[in-house]
Amino acid sequence: MYSSRITGMGFYVPDNIVTNDDLSKMMDTNDEWIQERTGIQERRWIKEGSDDTTSTMGVKASKIAIERAGLTKDDIDFIIFATLSPDHFFPGSGVLIQDMLDMPNVGALDVRNQCSGFVYSLSIADQFIKTGMYKNILVIGSEYHSGALDKTTRGRNLAVLFGDGAGAAVLSRSEDNSRGILSTHLHSQGEHAEVLTVKAPSIIHWIPAILNAKEEDTSYHPFMDGQKVFKNAIVRFSEAISEGLDANNLTAEDIDMFIPHQANLRITQFVQRRFKLSDDQVYSNIQKYGNTTAASIPIAMCEAWEQGKIKEGDLVVIAAFGSGFTWGSVVIRW
Ligand code: ACO
Repeated sequence: MYSSRITGMGFYVPDNIVTNDDLSKMMDTNDEWIQERTGIQERRWIKEGSDDTTSTMGVKASKIAIERAGLTKDDIDFIIFATLSPDHFFPGSGVLIQDMLDMPNVGALDVRNQCSGFVYSLSIADQFIKTGMYKNILVIGSEYHSGALDKTTRGRNLAVLFGDGAGAAVLSRSEDNSRGILSTHLHSQGEHAEVLTVKAPSIIHWIPAILNAKEEDTSYHPFMDGQKVFKNAIVRFSEAISEGLDANNLTAEDIDMFIPHQANLRITQFVQRRFKLSDDQVYSNIQKYGNTTAASIPIAMCEAWEQGKIKEGDLVVIAAFGSGFTWGSVVIRW
């Protein structure tokens, strides 16, 4: 059986920086509240009038990842695209990216697993490569959150958390089984689906319902029970990491770099303390980008690699938790 290695990574974030002070001009919030609870200092939001969308940002990140893998678009056999903010209700944005990258007839799969989307996507890509079906798979996470956030005081508990951006990785076939993705573990718990959700548009809340929506109807803005999410996140992050380490007979001491989904710096710090990881073993960039959901892991992974913090032979552990609930982990020997 083959193994799969990450051979190229890239990310793209919009130029437009929105600071916590900028937000306090739109809603009743402040820098101290946001930093104390989330660690976020600023995020990128697509500027009104910009051409950026979920799929165009995904394309920009993908071009960098393909080039860094030393490949061309013609070497890519399959596309897996994770987002909770697709350009259209359907078709999924995977096919839009396939078209924009000019990869005629290459299969494109959309993954709808929110903050865990990139972890699920890596796992799917890994299975296709291990079985020999595909050689090079483009895996993308991209989110355009700012378009759907309620930027008034009513939506402040969510609006301050999320940022826009995209990250991409190329997963390639390798014959060296001691390297590459060692394991992936995926989980979900649909009983908590309503704890973090956007209900409309959907078949249940179809267009006439939205057009007639009253000001007080919040079904088309994200809803979150933040404390329930926090409590579940710290438990599931920890379980997913332990599961990945145990499956490979490893311990937390073996981790060279832990790259969590950038949900909240306080969640990351809790997990860091739980596994007694040093600051050098954990990568965080939520301070700059906020929570970019499916894009957060590939952006963080790419940045860490660009800064020389991930080296050949390192043990890299990735874990995510998010709406669904869904969670999972990936253990990689780089
Ligand atoms: N600015 C100022 N005040 C605010 C804001 C804001 N942006 N948002 C809420 N408040 C107010 C509330 O109205 C409330 O006021 P009240 O006491 O007068 O009623 C007060 O602050 C406390 O609100 P809580 O919701 O209890 O705040 P909490 O301490 O729980 O912090 C937070 C909220 C940061 C969202 C926290 O619950 C959390 O971190 N949860 C984890 C969720 C998370 O990280 N989600 C990310 C997306 S999901 C994922 O990626 C896994």
